[in-house]
Amino acid sequence: MSEKIVTITVDGKKITAPEGAWLLPVCLEHDIYIPSLCWLKEMDDPPASCRLCLVEIEGLPEPVASCRCPVREGMVVRTNSDEILKLRQVAFRLLVSTNDGHCNTCIANRSCELQQIAKFLHQPLRTKRLRHIDRDYPEIIDDHPVLMYEPKKCVLCGRCVYVCSQNERGYKLDFAKRGMDTIISFYGSDIDPAAKECADCLACTEICPVGALSSKEKWRRFIAEVRLKQEQKKQKPS
Ligand code: FES
Repeated sequence: MSEKIVTITVDGKKITAPEGAWLLPVCLEHDIYIPSLCWLKEMDDPPASCRLCLVEIEGLPEPVASCRCPVREGMVVRTNSDEILKLRQVAFRLLVSTNDGHCNTCIANRSCELQQIAKFLHQPLRTKRLRHIDRDYPEIIDDHPVLMYEPKKCVLCGRCVYVCSQNERGYKLDFAKRGMDTIISFYGSDIDPAAKECADCLACTEICPVGALSSKEKWRRFIAEVRLKQEQKKQKPS
């Protein structure tokens, strides 16, 4: 990024930013909301995989991912056209096509970024317009000493992989398998020595935008509360 400050126009509003800065954070800093899942402000090299942050740039033939679009002098950007809304809705439907949609029993219910984006894009979390794909995975993977992973809630945004890669350890989270079988997996020569480090870190659970990754301790507490509420509901006189 250069030190030169340039002026761009976003949705008719003139804003200034350092030349070469990624467009998405520039817009967010100026209160222009653009949905995103795979981007984090700490990333130098965003993966641009979720496609929720698409915008139109005057003079470019196709919409671009704003999370890795560098700001240039005079750029004219539209974040809110009908076409952009439709493209983001398609990207969203693809992301949720493998989601179990069990929000009521999810640890991230009401703080889930997917729920917030669904509202912004006027989309349901279980969509009939795109066939729901039930991935052949267990509901829960709990072989890590500290972490709990629910693959059917995971949107594979890769944020957990990124934050874990910032840690200098031999043991880490990463993508495993390919295509529709892709999953987040725990790699390392020995899982147990990593347990304490993971327990002290838990950055992956904090950065997860949905309820897919959580600490076992927190997850167990949450499930106990859900079960208690369900019991109390059953016992209430009708
Ligand atoms: Fe830009 Fe995901 S935030 S593609």
